[in-house]
Amino acid sequence: MLAHLALHCTDVGAVAEPEDAPWWTRAVAYQVYPRSFQDSDGDGIGDLGGVLRRLDHLTDLGVDVLWLSPVYPSPQADNGYDISDYQGIDPLFGTLDQLDELIAALHGRGMKLLMDLVVNHTSDEHPWFVESRSSPTSAKRDWYWWRPPRAGMAPGAPGAEPTNWQSAFSGPAWTLDEASGEYYLHLFDRKQPDLNWENPAVRQAVHAMMRWWLDRGVDGFRMDVINMISKDLRGRDGAGHGHLHDGPPLPGSSLGDGSASYLCGPRVHEFLAEMHREVFAGRNGPLLTVGEMPGVTIEEARLFTDPARAEVDMVFQFEHVGLDHGASKWDVRPLRMRDLKASFGRWQAGLADVGWNSLYWDNHDQPRAVSRFGDDSPRYRRDSATCLATLLHLHRGTPYVYQGQELGMANYPFGGVDDFQDLESVNHFGTAMVDGQDPDAVLAALRVMSRDNARTPVQWDASPHAGFTTGTPWLPVNPDHVEWNAEAQRSDPASVLAHYKRLIALRHEDPVVALGDFTLLLPEHDDVYAFTRALDDEVLLVVCNVSRTPYRLADLLSQAMDTPLVLGNLPDAGPTLRPWEARVLRLR
Ligand code: GLC
Repeated sequence: MLAHLALHCTDVGAVAEPEDAPWWTRAVAYQVYPRSFQDSDGDGIGDLGGVLRRLDHLTDLGVDVLWLSPVYPSPQADNGYDISDYQGIDPLFGTLDQLDELIAALHGRGMKLLMDLVVNHTSDEHPWFVESRSSPTSAKRDWYWWRPPRAGMAPGAPGAEPTNWQSAFSGPAWTLDEASGEYYLHLFDRKQPDLNWENPAVRQAVHAMMRWWLDRGVDGFRMDVINMISKDLRGRDGAGHGHLHDGPPLPGSSLGDGSASYLCGPRVHEFLAEMHREVFAGRNGPLLTVGEMPGVTIEEARLFTDPARAEVDMVFQFEHVGLDHGASKWDVRPLRMRDLKASFGRWQAGLADVGWNSLYWDNHDQPRAVSRFGDDSPRYRRDSATCLATLLHLHRGTPYVYQGQELGMANYPFGGVDDFQDLESVNHFGTAMVDGQDPDAVLAALRVMSRDNARTPVQWDASPHAGFTTGTPWLPVNPDHVEWNAEAQRSDPASVLAHYKRLIALRHEDPVVALGDFTLLLPEHDDVYAFTRALDDEVLLVVCNVSRTPYRLADLLSQAMDTPLVLGNLPDAGPTLRPWEARVLRLR
């Protein structure tokens, strides 16, 4: 039936019987970045009251899980990913009572709540760090990574940092504490010191905190950069500047890439297995854990998500969101579709018999997918948003929808550097200027890649602040909200929102979508992304035109017009796939 191509549904291992498969194989998760979701008190910052007010939107969409980005007390240096109290709610966001109310409301609607677990680091204002910093003899000194300057060098002298590692947010990964003359490690901002997981007391404190949240009724955790918790600090430098060469030197910087010493470090599996035993084992109920893992390989992901090893249920990998990066994320390259196919194809095959994929385009750290992978011109924005959604949701794995993605929200038209708020963007601009880079080129990259693109307020309606706040929004609302908003889409069966609802319902209803084997077709084709999903006698063909060039379906499938259409993103399906058209066909 498939022209030019034999349809091999490769034997990718045993497929679980639909009824035996874990509940999250049929689930779709929705990420709320609370600061930008819905404000309820007019201070311009989203909050828990706002989340509670918008639950109908989630019910209507049909999602199963809400992942809530951090709402804990925090100085907000990294918008809550710098936590100063793991067992409370920042007054900015509301109260613990409201969090309890949210748990009850979600459960009442048949949804689950994932909290964000940020335990690679705390805030420098967390009492643990305050105590640790207070003196080299403090009982909590060893809860963080303190090191003297390099041998023979004075504290604070250029290059005296214990290793030459660069932090993820620019500058050295070590900051000097003047009082003790020692440095502390922070793989992210200086306000995010890394916890020392080698210390069993740290691990026990984290486990106790996690149990406290589960006892309160939360259903699991999204674990922030969890593959960075085990570090090998035996005097290593990153590439180019030390005796051990861990990776390529960083462009325009005297700092090195130390990631070989802390990505999937020596004890990470042991730590996650221990966490599973101490926190999750023996608990009843449908729980979910997803580990955010920059740089994770397929081989490692198989280990992390092998149910027999009891570590985590799934991971967020980063390969596909790195395909348009050159030497760094700010060195933006065009995406080649065949690279994306090859990458997704490898992950589908690699986790086919053991483990599980999570599927995402957008989150609070990524620019908007419709602008990045799709075509956000007025003509093709709706079609490319729905095409990308179809492509992703028909893969095998658990899809994650980031707030606003279901509305086709696009990148913000940022102007100058003052328009950016995210510390990653602001730090990068500052360092690039010190390095003598061209400000216009740096700004151009920020406009495309800045995390602020994902963080503008959700566009609920066409009113001046898009229904997000009655005050002044902390980050401006995208002016396109007059056209692109939830209210306008709710009553439109052709909207991006309506299409997401159909995709989510399809995953719930059709075991092939949840569990079918994946086979990539047309691996070399730059304009068409096609694959099959097969389970027992059922086979779906997914074919997506990811370009503006029409594609004759007969080139792939001789009897396309006789094949039942399960779902498509454009009306009046004919023999040609129009620009950004996506179809799901039932082959048998
Ligand atoms: C993760 C979060 C990101 C945060 C970083 C440090 O990558 O998703 O938002 O800045 O970790 O916590």
